[in-house]
Amino acid sequence: MPLTTSKEMLQAARAGRFAVGAFNANNMEQIQGIVDAAVEERAPVILQVSQGAIRYAGLDFAAAMVKTAAAMADVPVVLHLDHGTDFDQNVLCLRAGFTSLMFDGSKKPYEENIATTARIVEIAHICDIPVEAELGKVLQSTPDITPQDVLDAMTKPDQAADFVARTGCDSLAVAIGSVHAMSSKAASLDIDRLKSISEAVDIPLVLHGSSGVLEESEVEAIGYGIAKINVATLLNIGFMDALRAAVAADTKASDPRKFLTHSREAVKEIVRHKMRLFGASGTVTSSGFSSPKTQHRSADLGNIE
Ligand code: G3H
Ligand code: ZN
Repeated sequence: MPLTTSKEMLQAARAGRFAVGAFNANNMEQIQGIVDAAVEERAPVILQVSQGAIRYAGLDFAAAMVKTAAAMADVPVVLHLDHGTDFDQNVLCLRAGFTSLMFDGSKKPYEENIATTARIVEIAHICDIPVEAELGKVLQSTPDITPQDVLDAMTKPDQAADFVARTGCDSLAVAIGSVHAMSSKAASLDIDRLKSISEAVDIPLVLHGSSGVLEESEVEAIGYGIAKINVATLLNIGFMDALRAAVAADTKASDPRKFLTHSREAVKEIVRHKMRLFGASGTVTSSGFSSPKTQHRSADLGNIE
C-alpha cells in the first residue's frame, strides 16, 4: 500500500496502549528485513532515515527504497525523518515524500527549539504531514558519560504542556533515562517522570535510544504514553553479527548476496521480537491505521482570479 502518515498510527497506539516500532535503515537489506517482519507480524511499522543515512544512500534513493517496500506490503508503513536537526532538512524530506518528520532542537535553547519546531509544523501540516519534536535531550553514549549527565538532560515535565501548545507538534520525544547507541541493555527509565509528562500532554510520546533499555522498562513505559519506540543500534549489531558469522563460515565465496541474506534475516527476527514486545503484532486490521486523506476541495469556487 502507499506510505501512510504516523499521525493516526501513533494516536491509535497511544489509545490502545501499544507502541509502534520505528526502525532505522540505511540499506536495502535492512529495509526489506524490517518490512518483511511487519508483514509477518501484521504490525504497523515506521521506517526511519537519519541524516547519516541520507548522506550514505542519498535522499531520493533512500525515499524510493522505502516507498517501494511499502508499496509491496499489506500493512501500514511510514517513512520518517529521524533527528532532522535543521529546518532545511525537514523541508527537503517533505518534498521527497516523507510521511513523518522530526525536528530535533534538543541542542538549541528552549525558545529557539520552540520557534523552529513551530515553523516546521506550520509547513508540514499544510501537507497533512505530522512532526515529532524533542524536549530535553537523549544523549549519545560516550566513555565518559555519567548518570548525572543523563539526569541533567532529562525532559522537564513542567515545560511539556507549554512546549506542545506553542509548537503544535504531533508527537514528543522525551528524555527519561535512555541513552543513544548503547551496546548493552542496562538502562531503566524514569517512569515517574514519564507519568508526569504524560499527564501534562495528550499527544503520543516517543522513546529514543531503546537499544540500551531493559525490556521490562520499555514495556512499562508503553503503559504511560510511549507510543513510538526507536530502534537502531540493536539492528546494526544483529546485521553485522550475522554478516561476520556468514563470512567466517565461508571465507571463499565472493557473492555478497550469500552473506547479506543472513543479515536481512537477522534484522527481520529482531524486528519481529520487538513488535511482539511492544504489543504491535496483530494490531493491523482490515481497515488498517490510515484514514482516507482529506482532499481540500470546495464546491464554492468564489472569484477565480
Ligand atoms: O533515533 C534513533 C534511536 O533513538 C535509536 O537509538 O540506537 O539506541 O537504538 P538506539
Ligand atoms: Zn534517537
